[in-house]
Amino acid sequence: MFTIITGAQFGDEGKGKVVDLMSGNYDLVVRFQGGDNAGHTVKVGEDVYKLHLIPSGFLLDSRVLIGPGTVLNPEVLIREIDMLAEGGIDIGPEKLGIDARTSIIMPYHIELDGLRESRRTEKIGTTKRGIGFAYIDKVARDEIKMADIADHARLLRRLAELAPAKASAIKELDGDPGIVTDEQLVAKYVELGRRLAPYITDVSYEINKALEGGKNVLAEGAQGTHLDVIHGTQKFVTSSSTIAGSACANLGVGPTKVDDVLGIVKAYITRVGEGPLPTELADEAGKQIQEVGKEFGTTTGRSRRCGWFDLPLLKKAIYLNGYTSIALTKLDVLSDLDPIRVCVSYELDGHVLDYPPEDTAVFAQCRPVYEDLPGWEGDLTGIRSFEELPQAAQSYVLYLEKRMGVPIEYVSVGPAREQTFRKE
Ligand code: GTP
Repeated sequence: MFTIITGAQFGDEGKGKVVDLMSGNYDLVVRFQGGDNAGHTVKVGEDVYKLHLIPSGFLLDSRVLIGPGTVLNPEVLIREIDMLAEGGIDIGPEKLGIDARTSIIMPYHIELDGLRESRRTEKIGTTKRGIGFAYIDKVARDEIKMADIADHARLLRRLAELAPAKASAIKELDGDPGIVTDEQLVAKYVELGRRLAPYITDVSYEINKALEGGKNVLAEGAQGTHLDVIHGTQKFVTSSSTIAGSACANLGVGPTKVDDVLGIVKAYITRVGEGPLPTELADEAGKQIQEVGKEFGTTTGRSRRCGWFDLPLLKKAIYLNGYTSIALTKLDVLSDLDPIRVCVSYELDGHVLDYPPEDTAVFAQCRPVYEDLPGWEGDLTGIRSFEELPQAAQSYVLYLEKRMGVPIEYVSVGPAREQTFRKE
């Protein structure tokens, strides 16, 4: 079985927790795009793991893979491996595989990312981790791959070839070009490459072999649908394709192999950084959602903008991903708000739209049209089944399910594994 999970909104929907929950049923759990700009929080008992690169399935028996469509900061990965080792969790080469063709984020990518964003008059809200610049180099055929840093001589040759162009790009943005050939940094990458060499694998081959042998594979997306570099709210997007089809292309698995596509949907909407968000709240309700939902980024600590559920955006996410089912997270956060509003369409120049307009500048002009639903009171975090939910909370879930036209399979009322239950 091959299942793809993606975030249906702007990321931070709680994918990490759902993947962790499901990974018990999967032999392989695979990351297919993005880099350490994603942040997963996995809570097990009292232990909280905040991870950026290691796929969320690492706690159970699954083998976890980092696919060639991702961009990898090897220092961050080693830090995560070491942090988990301190917690008694061994992430050796039997547990984790990294594709040989994965692009490496070099210090000059991070430098360029920061310099470029600081020069923008209208910021795009990059995490300044060099992700976009590593992708630029992949497309330009100027990347350094995982296989390059695992081989000392090859890394030095490749760096010598790329250094002049990188140095002049940094100089052009008034940065310090010395970072490109800094001996200590190069020595650090040689050491990181030596440590990561045993993890190198062919991810496409591993997945296809596993599927052929009747095993189960889970592909885990990072960020969210509307941050997709092609279909998202350009230019306020991430630098990779975040939608379900991207899993096939990035992992080298044919679309005929996909069995299920699960969308992770927050019971409201959040967005970190810049870009339009029609239902954004600037009032007390928004503040309450932000505080109760702890809407502050795992990666940057930036506060997330919060808004009511946006059905037109969700409809688009359903089209872009072809969801077969949905997991609705963070329902608990909406307690004690009355009414609960759902954006059912947009108003634009006297017209009603039930689907987001294609152009971001036009989308930014859309005003939400709401339907109000009754709220509920009290803490939901102790609830363990759909039937135990207050009537109004059940009605909210059923309303969303009907309007989305895709079954809600899971409902989540807290960060821990046991706070997620099947709806049926
Ligand atoms: P990205 O890949 O960066 O988009 O992140 P993500 O979608 O994996 O989100 P993450 O795992 O960081 O989840 C967001 C936060 O919500 C984490 O702190 C989770 O512990 C928490 N969380 C997940 N589900 C629930 C829930 O149902 N209720 C509450 N209150 N918190 C939840």
